[in-house]
Amino acid sequence: MDFGTLIQKRRSVRAYKPDPVETEKLEQILEAARAAPTAANRQAVKLMVVYTQGREDELKRIYSADWFAKAPIVICACGVPSKNWVRGDGKNYNDVDVSIVMDHLILQATDLGLGTCWIAAFDPVAAKEVLGIPEGVEPIVLTPLGYADDKPHPKKRKKIEEIVVYDRW
Ligand SMILES: Cc1cc2nc3c(=O)[nH]c(=O)nc-3n(C[C@H](O)[C@H](O)[C@H](O)COP(=O)(O)O)c2cc1C
Repeated sequence: MDFGTLIQKRRSVRAYKPDPVETEKLEQILEAARAAPTAANRQAVKLMVVYTQGREDELKRIYSADWFAKAPIVICACGVPSKNWVRGDGKNYNDVDVSIVMDHLILQATDLGLGTCWIAAFDPVAAKEVLGIPEGVEPIVLTPLGYADDKPHPKKRKKIEEIVVYDRW
């Protein structure tokens, strides 16, 4: 798939088939995440791969939508802010780094024909408990990973002139 098509094809999938994700595909997806850039190359990121079978009820505590744990895999992208690069004024770029890693992962998944959905509206306390995430590690975003069981809708986006400013605000 060429890059422009890939970008347009990526969408939020909110219905999944139970079909498993092939191990080679999962490995390729995780490699794409590993290749992502991070500030000062700190790579203060952890990716948790969670197989959902048999864990549906506890995963629902993290995010209650019924389609969430129907995907065969859920990936939780975590950050380790204490290990991340911090700008001189104190701004920690951990959320940005984790997001870039997740975006690489999601685009690679799309290229391999798999569905994903960024999920931020989850319960972080439940995520830490259910997934055993240690102190100092922050779950930032999750995605189900599996084959889509729905049809794409047209994308709704602002006009380009609403989001781009040239030269000076
Ligand atoms: C950081 C982030 C968090 C999101 N959190 C959720 C979420 O918790 N639940 C959900 O269903 N979709 C979530 N989304 C998906 C957005 O609603 C979706 O990307 C947007 O409506 C555009 O649709 P598209 O992804 O199909 O192009 C999130 C997206 C991003 C980038």
